[in-house]
Amino acid sequence: MSDHMLDDIKGVLLSEEEIAGRVAELGKQISADYRGKNLLLLSVLKGSIVFMADLMRALTIPAAIDFMAVSSYGTDTKSSGVVKIVKDIDIDLEGKDLLIVEDILDSGMTLSYLKELLEGRNPASIRIVTLLDKPSRRKANIKPDYCGFDVPDEFLIGYGLDYAENYRNIPYIGILKPEVYE
Ligand code: IMP
Ligand code: MG
Repeated sequence: MSDHMLDDIKGVLLSEEEIAGRVAELGKQISADYRGKNLLLLSVLKGSIVFMADLMRALTIPAAIDFMAVSSYGTDTKSSGVVKIVKDIDIDLEGKDLLIVEDILDSGMTLSYLKELLEGRNPASIRIVTLLDKPSRRKANIKPDYCGFDVPDEFLIGYGLDYAENYRNIPYIGILKPEVYE
């Protein structure tokens, strides 16, 4: 990693303005779909926190929030599908309309494991909203119910997404130079 983190970025994939516009649209759609329901937004730490913070403020309906942390055993750029719950939620999910908030859906291994685990706790419903989707890399049989953007198979950072815990604080989605992780 360079001293100046922006030197590690090959280009901007999604600007702050593009992201804000799409998050506003998602907020409208989710607000309409969940009117009169018992919405619980469940952010998967840490990558989704920036998206979560913006999305929850784009909603016009009541929503509870909670956080879960999972770690997937794998390398920094690929997940193995073996998932460990690092931080669980303490809220009872019975009767809740659960919306899992993710930063990016890649192989889908992490989320398919998590969704199955949460289904076992009898929420009224369970859906997934992801800011980014890399459908070309999917291994698990899982699709987001709401998606911000389909993205190409490149390593993306910023707006919460990291490489080795860095770059999360960049306000837009950038493409990481391959030489940083190769
Ligand atoms: P999956 O289990 O392969 O779907 O992995 C999903 C998780 O991998 C995401 O929540 C991210 O933490 C991480 N991930 C996948 N692709 C990227 C990327 O391009 N940049 C940063 N993190 C990524
Ligand atoms: Mg990550």
